[in-house]
Amino acid sequence: MFGSSGEFGMRKPPGTRVFTPEELAQFDGSDASKPVYLAVKTVVYDVSSARAMYGPGSAYSVFAGKDASRALGMSSVKPADCVPDYSSLNAEQIGTLDQWVSFYQKKYDIIGSVKP
Ligand code: HEM
Repeated sequence: MFGSSGEFGMRKPPGTRVFTPEELAQFDGSDASKPVYLAVKTVVYDVSSARAMYGPGSAYSVFAGKDASRALGMSSVKPADCVPDYSSLNAEQIGTLDQWVSFYQKKYDIIGSVKP
C-alpha cells in the first residue's frame, strides 16, 4: 500500500491557490495537457509525477481531481467512499488517513487547498 518510500527530496514552498471542487475536478488526469491534482484533508497536491497511478484507467484514478479523504482512511477505492467528509472514520481509520497525509506531504508539492 505504501509502495513508494525513501527520500523524495526538497518540496517546493506550499502554494496558496484555492479550488472549488469543480475546479479541482479539472485536474483528474483526463486532460493530458494539465497536471494531475488530488486533495487530502483539503490540501491539494500535485501528483503529476505519478500520472501512471492516478490517470484515467489506472489503479488510483478514483482519487484524482478530488478530496477522497474518507476513502483513504478506510483503505477503500470505492467511488462512493471518495468524499471529503471523513467524520465517520473511527480512531484507527483517522490514523490511517493521517499516515496518508504525511506520505503526500513528503512525496508531492502542495498547490493550495479546496473549499466547498
Ligand atoms: C491488494 C491491495 C493493494 C495492493 C497490492 C496495492 C499495491 C500498491 C503498490 C505496489 C503501490 C506503489 C505503486 C508505485 O509506487 O509504483 C501502491 C500505492 C498506493 N496505494 Fe495501493 N495497493 C493495494 C490496495 C490499496 C487500497 C485499498 C488503497 C486505498 C486507499 C490504496 C491506495 C494507494 C495509494 C494512495 C498509493 C500511493 C500512490 C502514490 O505513490 O502517490 N492501495 N499500492
